[in-house]
This record gives sequence, structure tokens and C-alpha cells, in this order.
Amino acid sequence: MTRILAMDEGTTNVKASIVDEEGKIISSLSKEFNQIYPKPGWVEHEPEEIWRTQVEVAKKITKNERIDAIGITNQRETVVVWDKNGKPIYNAIVWQCRRTADMMEEIKKEYGEIIREKTGLIADAYFSASKIKWLLDNVPRARERAKMRELMAGTIDSYLIYKLTGEHLTDHSNASRTMLFNIKKGEWDEELLELFGIPKDILPHVRDSSSVFGYTKLFGKEVPVSGVLGDQQAALFGQTCFSKGMLKVTYGTGNFLLANTGNEIEHSENLLTTVAWKIKGNTTYALEGSVFITGAALKWLKDLEILKDYDDSENLAKNAKDSKLFFVPAFSGLGSPYWDPHARGLLIGITRGTKKEDIVKATLDSIAYQTKDVVEEMKKQVKIKEIRVDGGASKNDYLMQFQSDILGIPVLRPAILETTSLGAAFMAGLTIGAWDMNDLKGLWKEDRRFEPKMKDEDREKLYKRWKDAVSRALGWAKE
Ligand code: G3P
Repeated sequence: MTRILAMDEGTTNVKASIVDEEGKIISSLSKEFNQIYPKPGWVEHEPEEIWRTQVEVAKKITKNERIDAIGITNQRETVVVWDKNGKPIYNAIVWQCRRTADMMEEIKKEYGEIIREKTGLIADAYFSASKIKWLLDNVPRARERAKMRELMAGTIDSYLIYKLTGEHLTDHSNASRTMLFNIKKGEWDEELLELFGIPKDILPHVRDSSSVFGYTKLFGKEVPVSGVLGDQQAALFGQTCFSKGMLKVTYGTGNFLLANTGNEIEHSENLLTTVAWKIKGNTTYALEGSVFITGAALKWLKDLEILKDYDDSENLAKNAKDSKLFFVPAFSGLGSPYWDPHARGLLIGITRGTKKEDIVKATLDSIAYQTKDVVEEMKKQVKIKEIRVDGGASKNDYLMQFQSDILGIPVLRPAILETTSLGAAFMAGLTIGAWDMNDLKGLWKEDRRFEPKMKDEDREKLYKRWKDAVSRALGWAKE
């Protein structure tokens, strides 16, 4: 009886799950940790609190259970710098943190193209490079200590691996989010390291996502950490999107879309190119698009008391009468494919007869339209036949049917929606021989398949209106 422990260290909470050899989650426990906002736009986490809570939930669920391997998955891009005793020299700087936005705007002017070419990423403060530079420049003696090889830097996976095993390592999927990693060569890029003034010695060695990263005795007998993936890549793996053109959409606060592009690096003007995973020396790449506000728009309706409970949204939307009301929830600009920080929210088509049902429907529809915006962009690069969904709002049948209608392709919802943890466990189990890629494909079980029912001409008409609404929201906050 194989038992794999998945540690899922997310942006707001940590989770531990045990996955059995049939790919079922037999127990799971999560816990929130503190968000620290020292200044407007700054976001930090306390690394030791993350470690403590991650161990706490993992220990609780493994109390009466023997485990064979550990898979780690994590919020990506967030960085920690720590010393040889595992003590962080400062809080973790979180992916959402904008403290280095000005720095990156300057760097982008001259190096934007080079960065894009080498890393597949848009030169932005979102990624790790400028955050590590900030730590080295601003924490007293950090640069000096880094030169003396007293410090280690890395993303959250690295920090957890170090605490668990004493090894300073990361995997290719996480490395590809640092903006210091050459995704073509599969190694740290000397020119970018120099640009950001980051000594290579403080960065972890990069291993295949499926490899033994070290051993820990924290849960009884010695257990290998044998799978590591960034959380969005883990969801792609957990959805068993193993072939080119397979796409997963995670419906969270925002939406993350990843499409497998096989062994080829596809560059798209408005999407990110990233490493999905590396297995047995073979790198699989992905195209990624992020939509900033999806579930967060529903939360906004709740805050305004238009919506009492998320579960009510489905019935309310089904009872809506107005199909000409459009909502563009550009609360903090728009992400892929528009990349407009100055766009702002807009509700258009309001009449005296507009009801809350219509507003709820327009909000759910906006989630589907924004997802379509990214899928359309992906379709320029890869053939997409269907999408696999997970995350909170994927439980909403109205939304999933409308998503399928507006995309014109089937939407497949799996029986297990915790695909991130599943992906980490699958990767760890793969390494220890618990299953192979074919077995894993067989573990994915469908809950429901939504087929498109809308007429082509209706779809086109609606999508044209959506694009029109977006065009009116763009640039709104620009001086
Ligand atoms: O790139 C950021 C992403 O990895 C965060 O994911 O699920 O922790 O919000 P999540």
C-alpha cells in the first residue's frame, strides 16, 4: 500500500494530504498563516511560520500513517534568503509584492527583450530576480555575507527542501519562475545573474522535478522528498495534461491557465512561457496566462451583500433575464492577454430593470470571458480541443456550461478538484516507481463533461460585445 504525502504551500495557507496508490486523497488538512503588509503594495510572509505550520499539518495527518515519499508544491516566485542554520535573514518577499516595480520598469526598457528570450517571462516585479536583489541590497550585511557564501537564496520549495533534508536544491519548474533561469539551456543564466547582481553560489542546484531531493526523518523512518513542482505546474500534472495542447484552468481568486506545449518552447506575445516539469532529463514546456480577478469578483459581490453565499450564485445566474449586461472586473488592471495596469472595472448595459440576478450572471460570465481571452491567445500557438478545470468556481455548473458554450469546446471537471496536491504526490510517486505516466493517466477520473450547446453566431455576438466592453475599460486610470 503506497502512501504519498503532498505538502502544498500556497499563498494564504499550507496543506498536507495523503494520496494512496489509486490516486485518492485519503486525508487532508490545511491551515492559514499570516499575511504581512508592511507598506501599500508590499507583501511578506514569515518563512519560519510557513515551515512550522506546514510541519504541523503534515505531522497531524501522518500520525497513524506510514508514508513512502513526499511531494512538495508551492506558491511560486516568492523568495527567501537564509543562513546555514536555516534562519531567514528577512521575511519572504511574496510574488504579489510590488516593491521592486520601479526597478523592473527601468530594467525592462533595456533588457525586456533579452529577458523574454532567455526566460520566457515578461520583465516584471512578479518574478523572483528583483526580489532577491532587493534583499541583498537592503538587508544589512546581506551582500557581504552572500559573497562569503554564508547565505542561501531560493523559492519556497528550496527553503522547505533545505529544512527537510539539509540540501540546497530546486526543480526546473520553480527555477523557471525566477527570471534568472535560461529555459532553453536549463541552467542559471550568467548574464541575468550579473544584471541583478546575484552570485550564482547562493542559488540552489536545479534538479529534475522527478528526482530524489534528499531524505527526512521528520515523519518516522527515513523518507525521500521525491517530487517538486510549482503549484500551477503541479495542477497541470495532477490533471494529467501530459500531451501537447492539453490545458488546465484553475479557478481561484484569479484564474491560472497552463497549456502543455510539449518539448518545444512556444513564444507568445501576450502569454508567459515556462517549464512545466522535467522528468528523466526531458523538459516539457507550457504557455501560461493569468487573469487577476475572477473569484475575487464574486467576493466583491459578497462584500456588497449582493451575494449571500457563493453557492447561491448558480441559481441567481440561472434566473437572470438580461443578457446585455456586461461586467469587466478590472479592479487592479487586466492581466493576460491585455497587460494593462490602468484598466479599471466597468459594468455596462445597466437599465432601471437591472436586478441582482443580472449582476451575478454578468460576474460569472466575466470569469468565462476572461478565460476565453487567454485560450484564444493560446490557440495561436497550440491546438486546444478541450479544457480541464479545477479550483473553487469549477464546482459551479452554470459557469462551467457557459464556459464551454463561450469557448465552443468541452469542459472536463475531474472527480478530485485538489489537483495541485495530487500533482505533487503523482510526481513523488513516479520517482519511487509507485506508478508510471500511463498509470497516472488512468487515475484521472471525470466527474462531469460540459459540451458546448450555443450556436456559433450567438457565441460570436456575445464575445464581440465582451471585447467592446473591455476596450472601454482599458486605460481608464491613466492620468
Ligand atoms: O504564481 C503564483 C502562484 O503560484 C500562486 O498560486 O495558488 O498560491 O495563489 P496560489
